Amino acid sequence: MKALTWQGLNDVAVKEVPDPRIEQPTDAVVRVTSTAICGSDLHLYGVLAPYLTPGDVLGHEFMGIVEEVGSAVGNLAVGDRVVVPFNISCGHCWMCSRGLFAQCETTQNVDQGKGASLFGYTSLYGAVPGGQAERVRVPHADFGPIKVPHEGEDERYLYLSDILPTAWQGVDYADVPEGGSLVVLGLGPVGQLAVRAAKHRGIDHVIAVDLVPERLAAAATAGATTIDLSAVDDVADAVRDLTDGRGADGVLEAVGMEAHGNPIAGAAISAASRLPKVVARAAIEKVGIDRLDALLTAFEAVRRGGTVSISGVYGGMADPMPMMTMFDKGLTLRMGQCHVKQWTDDLLDIVSQDDDVLGLESLATHRAPLDAAPELYRTFRDKAEGCLKVVLKP
Ligand SMILES: NC(=O)c1ccc[n+]([C@@H]2O[C@H](COP(=O)([O-])OP(=O)(O)OC[C@H]3O[C@@H](n4cnc5c(N)ncnc54)[C@H](O)[C@@H]3O)[C@@H](O)[C@H]2O)c1
Ligand SMILES: [Zn+2]
Ligand SMILES: [Zn+2]
Repeated sequence: MKALTWQGLNDVAVKEVPDPRIEQPTDAVVRVTSTAICGSDLHLYGVLAPYLTPGDVLGHEFMGIVEEVGSAVGNLAVGDRVVVPFNISCGHCWMCSRGLFAQCETTQNVDQGKGASLFGYTSLYGAVPGGQAERVRVPHADFGPIKVPHEGEDERYLYLSDILPTAWQGVDYADVPEGGSLVVLGLGPVGQLAVRAAKHRGIDHVIAVDLVPERLAAAATAGATTIDLSAVDDVADAVRDLTDGRGADGVLEAVGMEAHGNPIAGAAISAASRLPKVVARAAIEKVGIDRLDALLTAFEAVRRGGTVSISGVYGGMADPMPMMTMFDKGLTLRMGQCHVKQWTDDLLDIVSQDDDVLGLESLATHRAPLDAAPELYRTFRDKAEGCLKVVLKP
């Protein structure tokens, strides 16, 4: 079958790879009908290169039709239409039984000191072949896949795999009190859905920050007050101006380790990803390699006693944090991979409503066959052609 494979720094290619097959009784094989490119894939494209091997199949946002099931998969039948959460969880371990699916103890990568395995996401997270492919083996299919109705566009359901629950959890973790304010930093697909989720959940005062004009415009259309970070001296000052001088009750950081704004850290990241693998891994694990601009903005823009919720992915082990400010302001921090299935029931109800309340069917700006993936990785990375979300149709 054909699949999108990682080949090297900023280099992906569609190649022939072996067909997936059932390896465990709890596996299923899914024929992929839609698969999206995520901001998290862009980290693999660049800074996380030391953890990939040429030929690795990428992709963790996908849905499709069940083609084959293992003998222990009683909940799915061949022909079912499913969307698959990006984290692979067993559903019954100590962590899963507490809803902490991103920390599943059955699929945890203990040798790497990391949480649950993820599709298409490096040797740190199990090196499980991903879903930007014609077919994919889904481990723990007796728990993970979410059955969806056969009617309706794929894109109504596709984002249940990752960005919709991620945005939802991010808003939840920001813990905005009734009548309060939320800042969303970063208006990629996660930030856009966070703005819409916040509005849907009754947070009226949403302030959205980015520097890409189309992304700011989309957030404004969804009802946010926008701040163009390239047009203000200081984002936190601009936020205080909009919040009675106090700062926002909650700040959701949806940017991650490649934040715009720090050329020195940027050079360090690109240098680290070009080093020989062993040296590069050591550098990433011992040194702060993240560009912290968005995170530092979050600590400044949140009010005293407020909450910073971090959805953006970070990778450095020794990133310097402004502990004096964080302590003095009495901040609460919540973060981590999304526990996708914790939010599925609530979200399935919302996405199934007749009117597409979160605008899911119009989020993607680019739709193309799998063969176009290499070009579209570049377009999405460069935020060219108004690109906000790419959906591939294998
Ligand atoms: N926690 C999770 O489970 C989870 C799941 C999905 C994605 N993510 C992460 O969420 C982040 C966002 O994902 P995405 O797909 O929306 O990515 P994206 O790269 O499309 O979006 C990031 C946005 O941040 C903007 N930005 C850059 N620097 C900024 C700054 N200093 N201040 C404000 N905005 C800035 C960029 O212009 C861009 O629009 C990524 O780090 C991704 O890895 C986490
Ligand atoms: Zn994703
Ligand atoms: Zn588990």
